[in-house]
Amino acid sequence: MTHLSKLAQAGVLTNPTTHAEYMTFVINPSNQGVACTNIGIALAKLDVITKSINQKDLDASLSISIGFSALAWPLLFPQIPMPAQLQAFTPMQDGPRVFPATEGDIFVMIKSNRMDLNFQAAKLVMRDLASFTTLIEDIQGYKYLDNRDMIDFVDGTENPTGDERVEAVLVQEDIDLHQGGSYLTVQRYVDHLDKWEAQHTEYQEQVIGRTKMDNVELDDDVKPAWAHNAKSKVEIDDVEIKMLRQNRPWGNAKEHGTFFLGFASTPEIINTSLKQMIYADAQGDYDRLLDFVDAKTGGIYFMPSMTFLAQFDD
Ligand code: HEM
Repeated sequence: MTHLSKLAQAGVLTNPTTHAEYMTFVINPSNQGVACTNIGIALAKLDVITKSINQKDLDASLSISIGFSALAWPLLFPQIPMPAQLQAFTPMQDGPRVFPATEGDIFVMIKSNRMDLNFQAAKLVMRDLASFTTLIEDIQGYKYLDNRDMIDFVDGTENPTGDERVEAVLVQEDIDLHQGGSYLTVQRYVDHLDKWEAQHTEYQEQVIGRTKMDNVELDDDVKPAWAHNAKSKVEIDDVEIKMLRQNRPWGNAKEHGTFFLGFASTPEIINTSLKQMIYADAQGDYDRLLDFVDAKTGGIYFMPSMTFLAQFDD
């Protein structure tokens, strides 16, 4: 497992940092012809950008991780086989609950403990990709209180750690070049805090499936079938299959929510979780967290291994 973890991009296996920036790029139709050459030039510079900004403050732990969508892969890397499970995000809807699939060819995740350094990195990354892409979304996420979402519950508690995390997150079964890569599913959610804060704490705790202040999981005999942590948990033949969530709150008083980032060794785990959350089951139960949050975006990216990225080094 340790050998595999060394192949992952710096931001993939690590916990979320105090500040983060999430950048979604699309390839300009008029520049498709140069995309394949220009991505190589841009990737060669990523390491240089990271090192030069990190020099300013090593304690900030800045990392830049990059991923590519299924639609973009053949344009960017026509000579390299696509990761076996790379696929487009499947849009889903059940009644008023909607998970849209939205545009995005290249996704960049910048993590560090300083917003100013993230800004510098983001500016350089945008410049680096400018010859063939347009930045269509640029969201700054940040740590809120003791790692809470803005709905005021601690997020990330049940994430796997150590070897279990490596196994859950990194691809093992693919060509050598893709081993140590990871599939990332992103969704930007907007909260409806007025509606959420109008609920009693007891009901909020049932919706999440944990206590609010102490962050303790509710016992099975009191946890409803529609609790978020019941609906999102994926089990195959009674064995729990984990993912790594690096969610961060984003936004301001006017508009805010959770930026969901789920890493897994196959996108199917997160697809299954999303289906369990959104579609009402035979009892009419769906994830009631979805009564209070709205997904505005949805995308799947492959975050390639360091072996893959090393091909483009100067
Ligand atoms: C607005 C969006 C979301 C919010 C505010 C949110 C919040 C939370 C919170 C507070 C917990 C409990 C603590 C923890 O274990 O982390 C949790 C658990 C979890 N969430 Fe979410 N979540 C969101 C979206 C999602 C999505 C889209 C997925 C999957 C596709 C997901 C998957 C999970 C999983 C797997 C758990 C752990 C379940 C367990 O094993 O106990 N969440 N989430």
